[in-house]
Amino acid sequence: MRTRITELLGIDYPIIQGGMHYVGFAELAAAVSNAGGLGIITALTQGSPANLAREIERCRAMTDRPFGVNLTFLPAVNPPDYPGYVRAIVDSGVQIVETAGNNPQKWLPALKEAGITVIHKCTSVRHSLKAEAIGCDAVSVDGFECGGHPGEDDIPNFILLPRAADELKIPFIASGGMADGRSLVAALALGADGINMGTRFIATVEAPVHENVKQAIVAASELDTRLVMRPLRNTERVLVNAGVRRLLEKERALGYGITFQDIAPEVAGVYPAIMKRGEMDAGAWSCGMVAGLINDIPTVKELIDRIMQEARSIVSDRLGRLSALLDVPETAAA
Ligand SMILES: Cc1cc2nc3c(=O)[nH]c(=O)nc-3n(C[C@H](O)[C@H](O)[C@H](O)COP(=O)(O)O)c2cc1C
Repeated sequence: MRTRITELLGIDYPIIQGGMHYVGFAELAAAVSNAGGLGIITALTQGSPANLAREIERCRAMTDRPFGVNLTFLPAVNPPDYPGYVRAIVDSGVQIVETAGNNPQKWLPALKEAGITVIHKCTSVRHSLKAEAIGCDAVSVDGFECGGHPGEDDIPNFILLPRAADELKIPFIASGGMADGRSLVAALALGADGINMGTRFIATVEAPVHENVKQAIVAASELDTRLVMRPLRNTERVLVNAGVRRLLEKERALGYGITFQDIAPEVAGVYPAIMKRGEMDAGAWSCGMVAGLINDIPTVKELIDRIMQEARSIVSDRLGRLSALLDVPETAAA
């Protein structure tokens, strides 16, 4: 399948694995790239630029296909060593970077000078247009249903994607709620050039997370996510659990006067406990509504092959049958 995104990234299928904290390690990124998609290592999860450089090397040893690095710009009192991470990416020769969070403008000259293709993840049309204007090569458009940070506009993908298609000139990828061949065909129909998946890729054999996390996604329905941190304008969609219930209770009690310190026990540094040790009530972890569409734990290759096969048969069978309507002679139609 050829789209502007497969051409831009040099991949076989327009399927990307978005950066994910404590999930985006070399094992998953390499598996996605080897299966014909684009795998992405999450920079900040590695803890330091030197560790990121090592993780990139590990990934290279596992795949000779293109893969990328996610660099998330967070609002932080003590920001991570972003110049160091950018240097590690450039020095490693990685050719694709997914930026997310704040505007990446400050870092674009260094990345573009190194010939790196930059995909910026946005949750609105206005941020997508800004990304296009400052020279990003593509955007990943994250709808309200997405796992992680959907922004503050709450526009679902059935509206957001065609709006993006109407406005953008650069290619874009549909992100949030994508799970199967139906998602891919729908995303292409709405004007996207491919799909980005987070939650779906966690429930795979190769995802380097505790089995409890995968089982929690399989067990969850589309009703089981919650939005947290809205009063801090840092909204995150997470899977409901005891930690999230505690957090929401604090939000109800403290209202808009709440501070990050009030909820730190439920959100700060909880990912290792959840992702590595499988302590599922330790706190809030990102998960999309798409959990309702996830019922198994295939290998990454099985998943990607299945998505492509399903997409092909939707186009040839279901949509093919509908297109027979177009063959009705005009006189008969009249
Ligand atoms: C557990 C988890 C952690 C995530 N961490 C990050 C992150 O560190 N940086 C980032 O840009 N996006 C992060 N995301 C968002 C994903 O890259 C992707 O945009 C999102 O999951 C798409 O929605 P979906 O889960 O419905 O597929 C995370 C998502 C999940 C589920």
